[in-house]
This record gives sequence, C-alpha cells and structure tokens, in this order.
Amino acid sequence: MNDVISTILNHRSIRHFEDKPLTEEQIRTIVSCAQAAATSSFIQAYSIIGVKEPVKKKKLAELAGNQEYVEKNGHFFVFCADLYRHSLLGEKEDKNVEASLESTEKFMVALIDTALAAQNAAIAAESLGLGICYIGGIRNNLEEVKKILHIPDRVIPLFGLAVGYPAKVTGQKPRLPFEHVYHEDEYEQNKEVNLHQLDDYNEIIANYYQQRTNGVRKDRWTEQMAALLEKQTRMYMKEFIQKNKLDLR
Ligand SMILES: Cc1cc2nc3c(=O)[nH]c(=O)nc-3n(C[C@H](O)[C@H](O)[C@H](O)COP(=O)(O)O)c2cc1C
Repeated sequence: MNDVISTILNHRSIRHFEDKPLTEEQIRTIVSCAQAAATSSFIQAYSIIGVKEPVKKKKLAELAGNQEYVEKNGHFFVFCADLYRHSLLGEKEDKNVEASLESTEKFMVALIDTALAAQNAAIAAESLGLGICYIGGIRNNLEEVKKILHIPDRVIPLFGLAVGYPAKVTGQKPRLPFEHVYHEDEYEQNKEVNLHQLDDYNEIIANYYQQRTNGVRKDRWTEQMAALLEKQTRMYMKEFIQKNKLDLR
C-alpha cells in the first residue's frame, strides 16, 4: 500500500483540535491541492473562503448548530459552488451566458466541482498529519452565512471544512459492504440480495457503536438513516438557491 492510499483509508472525522493555527504555507498547500482537482470543462466553478476572524468563526459555529469545532480548529474553510465569476466573464466577453448559468446542469457542475476540490483539500490536509471535519451544518442558515462572508449572488456556500491538529482521535466508522456499493456491468436490483447486505452491515454498525459507547448505543444503520430521512430538514433550500439566481431552468 502506498502513502496516498493509506492516508485515504485512514480517514475519520476529527472533532477536537489543538489550539494551533495552520501556517500560511499549509493553507496554500491545501488550497492548491483543492485547485488541482479535475474540473468539468475547465469551468472551475467554486471558491474557498478561509475564515480566521474569531467573531465570524464563533457566529458560524452557532449557525451550524453550536458545533464547537467550527470555532476551535487550526483553520476553517468554507467551500462554495461559484458561478459568479462566469457571470462577470460573460459581461467582459459581451456574451449572453445568463440562461446557461441559471440551468440545473450548470448548478450540478458547480456542486460536483466544489465537492471534488474539497475532497482533494481534505486528503492533502490528512496527508500532512492534520485532521478534518466537513461541516454541512452551515447550511442551517445560508442567508446569514452569506451575510457574514459577504457572498454575492450565484455563489452558494455548500459546507465548511474544519482543519487542525487532532487533539482527540476517534475510531474509524466502517463503510457499507463493497458488494453493496460496487456493481459490475449492471445495477444489482435483487431486493433480497440488497436487504441481506444491509442486514450484514447493520450488524457491523451495531457492534461498532456498542464498542464505542460501552454498550450504550446499538443503532443499526438502516434505523439511523430512516430516522434521519423521516425528518424534513433545510427545506428552504430550493427557494434559497433560486433566489441566488441558480437552478432556475
Ligand atoms: C458534506 C458533509 C457534511 C458534513 N457535516 C458535518 C457536520 O456538520 N458536523 C459533523 O460533526 N460532521 C459532519 N460531517 C461528517 C460526517 O458525519 C462523517 O463524515 C460521517 O459520519 C462518517 O464518519 P467519518 O468521516 O469519521 O468516517 C459531514 C460530512 C460531509 C461529507
């Protein structure tokens, strides 16, 4: 196994960081690695906002549902899907790009680009011995996040990435069985097979929680996900995105 693969396979989210800021060099390396990711048609439809200002970090932590590690980390990045610069370049080149920028397809392109860049950043950080935790909690209130970070139309903050020196390292969460995720030549739709794989996984996850919590938690994964999905959360999103002049057609 090479170092890249062992870094990737060693991933776990870190939620306790030492009080030690990242150096400018570390920040540059992480962002350069994000930018090195492949990008649909070279469109580069994302921006990354590093948040250092303690008052802003505190406010973001509150907005994210009081997640302390949004405030207490080595650096906090906010990854944004960004078609604002494409609006500017349309103006500059005197071309009507507006209809295209408002399409669902271009919105998807921006989401995909942002996620690919972010995961490169995450792996780069982990390869430097740092820990990371993605923060989707910032989507609780994107209107406020946009205000705090002065974000223009056609830019949607998607998630944060808390990075820092791990103060507490937790165990790794086992993933779904390989066979359940990887299909060959055709999608496995046999319900019995699918459910059997999920049952196997439930057992693995129940054991994982049991060990991690000294027997307090025994959640099965399907139970956990069904409870999660039963709740309708952040239902304002479609309206918010369209108000920001994306995903309109
Ligand atoms: C886009 C995204 C958003 C996430 N948001 C949060 C968050 O707001 N708070 C948090 O503690 N973890 C968050 N996570 C981390 C997941 O909970 C975590 O990756 C998952 O439980 C698997 O655990 P692992 O990363 O330790 O393997 C997020 C992960 C992703 C990919």
